Amino acid sequence: MVKRIAVLTSGGDAPGMNAAIRAVVRKGIYHGFEVFGVQRGYEGVIQGAFNLMSFQSVGGIIQHGGTVLKTARSEAFKTSDGFALALQQLKNHFIDYLIVIGGDGSMAGAAKLATEGVPTMVIPGTIDNDMAGTEYTIGFDTALNTVLEAVNKIRDTAASHERVAIVEVMGRSAGHIALMAGLACGAEAILLPEQPLDIETICERLGKSYKRGKQYSIILVAEGVAKGYDIASQISAKTQFQPHVTVLGYIQRGGNPTAMDNIMASRMGAAAIDSILTDDINKLVALRQGQIVTVPYEEAFKSKHKIDLSIYDTAGILSR
Ligand code: ADP
Ligand code: F6P
Repeated sequence: MVKRIAVLTSGGDAPGMNAAIRAVVRKGIYHGFEVFGVQRGYEGVIQGAFNLMSFQSVGGIIQHGGTVLKTARSEAFKTSDGFALALQQLKNHFIDYLIVIGGDGSMAGAAKLATEGVPTMVIPGTIDNDMAGTEYTIGFDTALNTVLEAVNKIRDTAASHERVAIVEVMGRSAGHIALMAGLACGAEAILLPEQPLDIETICERLGKSYKRGKQYSIILVAEGVAKGYDIASQISAKTQFQPHVTVLGYIQRGGNPTAMDNIMASRMGAAAIDSILTDDINKLVALRQGQIVTVPYEEAFKSKHKIDLSIYDTAGILSR
């Protein structure tokens, strides 16, 4: 019997997910597997939405953002009835291995399936780069470049009007996007859930840089720490500055993946198939110290990917 692999994308979509799907499908078929694409993440597992993929079915997708398999946040999968149905569907479709492309929540789902005897692998995919066990998640680089491009445009108008510009970026529970984009664009202040700045300090910094001759300032705010509009009203209540706010929102999740994301996605997708071939299953494909490795779920969950606060300090010094 030919062994069957199913692949799905789950949670927030991220640029590069298509390259990961393509890698799983093509390398899987190359090694003699049948590969099925599941529509809409765990929701599709419950619904039995499995489609046989071919080399050609993943042609012309590598350059596009989003995910051709669609994605979902499935509440049903978290219920015992939904989970039981998902297990039944995997059995009915004779699926031997499930490859999940997603973030922490998706990995929790894959780990749960593994404990019920379904061999799984997880490929890290979320723009937030906040996943336990890995230093990189597919989509982060593209999102950073999108933020950088947007801030550079906002900078032109902020500089012309001599304004303070507040840019709110994604990152519900982690500030990786705000920190790295802040460093990349030279933001005067960066607000992160991991290192919140009090409003007095922000106002003081703005005042000092204005006195040193800075005619405009950029403040990056991670959505997980505060709303950009709230920070703006607090600053305008305490200083002469009248900040203008941009909430970047979903623009950060779309767009053509960067070379970095497609390279990582292609390598990680291929690594997931290699793991199945060597029976190195029930693991997260991760980037650690520049190497693509596999990490057991339990170990991955224990090692949270924290912000490097020395980068935060460096960004603060460089933007004075
Ligand atoms: P991400 O994978 O990007 O962290 P979510 O947290 O929304 O995104 O998780 C994606 C999906 O994974 C959820 O909609 C749900 O179906 C499943 N999931 C999340 N947490 C768990 C859990 N603890 N147990 C089982 N499934 C989960
Ligand atoms: O993909 C990650 C993320 O973009 C978070 O930063 C954000 O808070 C969340 O997903 C929003 O996603 P949705 O509105 O689709 O649930």
